[in-house]
Amino acid sequence: MVKMSLRGEKRRSKRKAKSVLITGASGFIGSHLVEEGLKRGYEVWAAVRRTSSRQYLTDPRIRIAELDLADPEHLSEQFQHDATGDFRFDFVVHNTGITRARNAEEFYRINEGLTRNLVTSLEVTGFIPDKFLFISSLAAIGPGDPVLMQPITDDTPPNPVDPYGKSKLAAEHFLESRPGFPFLIVRPTGVYGPRERDYLQVYRTISRGFELYAGTSSQRISFIYIGDLVRIVFDALESAFTGSTWVVSDGRNYSAREFSALVKQILGKRTVSVVVPAGVVKGLAAALQSVARPFGQVPLLNRDKARILTSRNWQCDPSGIFGDLHFTPAYDLEQGLKETIRWCREQGQI
Ligand SMILES: NC(=O)c1ccc[n+]([C@@H]2O[C@H](COP(=O)([O-])OP(=O)(O)OC[C@H]3O[C@@H](n4cnc5c(N)ncnc54)[C@H](OP(=O)(O)O)[C@@H]3O)[C@@H](O)[C@H]2O)c1
Repeated sequence: MVKMSLRGEKRRSKRKAKSVLITGASGFIGSHLVEEGLKRGYEVWAAVRRTSSRQYLTDPRIRIAELDLADPEHLSEQFQHDATGDFRFDFVVHNTGITRARNAEEFYRINEGLTRNLVTSLEVTGFIPDKFLFISSLAAIGPGDPVLMQPITDDTPPNPVDPYGKSKLAAEHFLESRPGFPFLIVRPTGVYGPRERDYLQVYRTISRGFELYAGTSSQRISFIYIGDLVRIVFDALESAFTGSTWVVSDGRNYSAREFSALVKQILGKRTVSVVVPAGVVKGLAAALQSVARPFGQVPLLNRDKARILTSRNWQCDPSGIFGDLHFTPAYDLEQGLKETIRWCREQGQI
């Protein structure tokens, strides 16, 4: 065990570039993390499944690692049997996760379970990185108070309202329980940008002339542009911090109508506004989920998503991480949406 670690160390000292392993590298956030790592001169290992798309992983500098996160024993063997010692990473960004699932068990199995498997395998093989950064979610804290409407901060006591948030919080608790394990946790609010699929549905709906609102009470929301999120992740890895947990947004809060107004303006569209009462949204979500269940599918609008959509307060105050890392976002919502919508148009998605 120690031998493997020393061998990795020895080899690492000969390397110029630091190495980073990014799990969930085929997805929206993961593929942008890979690009940020390359931009900063890292040796980037993209952890994927055999079945994962490689659409955004075509840069020849990317090293692909087909890791079996679902099977801790096999995963440990994969680390141990690596003859080159390359599987000793300076940094790990554990980004794999699901935001939609058929049931709570699936959320826990992936979001908490795969985190356990990865961390345990790193510990067992002695391949503990200098930093292990977990991409959690603002949902691990849950929405802010709907009456006082204070923004969510690093000090807000977690009270997740849906299985997604609960499974992310369980993964965080697991990390915190490992003695001496060098973790960092970021809890991003809604992330948008090129390659993202959920907000794309909103841009499409608006481009077809409709603005949809869930519930009548005004909702306050927050965002972070993907380019800023990946910068902050690497800044955190390169900082002196370990054991910190931070909420992440672009530092501003918006109403759902402000968001739609910006999208409308950028798309140059006029729209009809449709307000769907919260009860109807929840009923529709339950119905769609029942219809989709026999086919093993999870609709975009499901019970968990309905809870998020109808929560009034997703405001966020990221001054903790901004102060610690001396970070200033490069994008506000308008600039980020312009970039995103331009990309979606180029791809023929809108
Ligand atoms: N998007 C947001 O607004 C947001 C906000 C806060 C936090 N997050 C968190 O950020 C992370 C990435 O989200 P995303 O929006 O980029 O999602 P995404 O595009 O769906 O990417 C998810 C990634 O996780 C991988 N994955 C899913 N299930 C897996 C499994 N069973 N075994 C191995 N890999 C698996 C996927 O691999 P395949 O390609 O093989 O399916 C994919 O690479 C997640 O942990 C999510 O909870 C997202």
